[in-house]
Amino acid sequence: MKISKCVFPVAGLGTRFLPVTKELAKEMLPLVNRPIISYGVEEAIASGCGEIIMITGRAKRSLENYFDRSFELEELLKARGKMELYEEMIKISNMAEILFIRQREPLGLGHAVLCAEPVCKNEYFAVALPDDVFVNPDEPVLSQLIKVHEKMGGSVIALEEVAPENVSRYGIVKSQFEIEPGLHKIIDMTEKPKLEDAPSNLAIMGRYVLSPTVFEILKDQQAGAGGEIQLTDAIKTLCPREPVWGVVYNGRRFDCGTQKGWLAANVKLAMDDPELKEVILKIVASRS
Ligand code: UTP
Repeated sequence: MKISKCVFPVAGLGTRFLPVTKELAKEMLPLVNRPIISYGVEEAIASGCGEIIMITGRAKRSLENYFDRSFELEELLKARGKMELYEEMIKISNMAEILFIRQREPLGLGHAVLCAEPVCKNEYFAVALPDDVFVNPDEPVLSQLIKVHEKMGGSVIALEEVAPENVSRYGIVKSQFEIEPGLHKIIDMTEKPKLEDAPSNLAIMGRYVLSPTVFEILKDQQAGAGGEIQLTDAIKTLCPREPVWGVVYNGRRFDCGTQKGWLAANVKLAMDDPELKEVILKIVASRS
């Protein structure tokens, strides 16, 4: 069956961006003039997922507003003859069917994914963590995963080879074999291991295609690393029961959940725009 649903867990507190995230949803931080979340949603749509499920928390109202109509603004833009901007605003609110589900307590990513069960029920579904932004990939990363699911069946996770000093920041997988370059059969994984305990340097990034069996697993799962209900632990339990594939994706990722990654993504996008590029180059040249 085609993958049509993509779950966006966005209920996290965004502590790495405090104090701005005290009031502003991390996913609404701008990458030049568009919020981080819009990149993930556009990627999901381009990958064939027209049904978006956002798992939100108390401080995330702005996400609902962003994807909703804004009649006052639309009328004002029309009255002022700013038709291009008007069309753009309409396009955002018509982008996809978006359903919002509240995660009442931020108990972890695994728990957030479990909140999507009433909607995804018995079908395979995609998960996208919006912090991971892929700027202009040749093919959307989610689409690369969905293609593997369509060919091989089972669940699929996005992998990236990381430097040794970064291994302890991620979920790290153990590959049983590489069936073709960059496509691994996964037999085990561990969340944020010490370098000496890590089974590889293949790190799990924020795109998944998951079997509905993970819901059953998550229901009985205890809190893991950091006292949170971890998605990695659930996929680890899934591994001996059903096939789990790992794809080393093509594309450049920016971790916009960190200040450095967010800044780098902004610089990259600005450098791709002739006018903004001039601004950056001037600042760099003057070193001030
Ligand atoms: P992170 O580990 O990045 O946590 O969550 P965070 O709260 O967003 O940010 P920091 O670490 O405090 O700065 C990974 C993803 O899981 C979601 C987050 O919104 C993010 O997309 N998440 C995490 C939830 O939806 N609910 C949770 O309980 C925890």
